[in-house]
Amino acid sequence: MQADLDIYVICAFESLERGQAMAFSLSRVMDDGATRPFSIFIVRTEKDQCVGYVNVCPHKGAWLNIGDGKFFSEDGRRLRCGRHKSEFDVETGVCVKGPCVDKVIEPVALVVMDGDVCLCGVKLAEEEISDDDELDETMEIMIHPG
Ligand code: FES
Repeated sequence: MQADLDIYVICAFESLERGQAMAFSLSRVMDDGATRPFSIFIVRTEKDQCVGYVNVCPHKGAWLNIGDGKFFSEDGRRLRCGRHKSEFDVETGVCVKGPCVDKVIEPVALVVMDGDVCLCGVKLAEEEISDDDELDETMEIMIHPG
């Protein structure tokens, strides 16, 4: 039998600009019950798909948007890390240039439902939902400046 799947609304799909990324600071409940900061970013690709990643560079663990707040390379075609300038394929998260070639930014599982981008596959700490009501009122999401 399949376990219940927790799904969390993160943002409206239309709030994301095509070709842009948005960062979210969440809290994740780990398997041992501890709560940890969980920083992710979501990209609306040029093909109008949504992809999401944990905001941790696979090279040395920096936020990708460290420094100038940007997620994209100068030409806008790849994700990039502000620390040592690794560049990553937008749709796969694979590093294609820089000091961690072939390493991958950890993806997060997203679904788009009723116009909302939703996160699944993890347990978030803000979730206090008891099956019945007020799904929309229980989320608290902070957005990184920039
Ligand atoms: S920490 Fe991202 S490229 Fe070094």
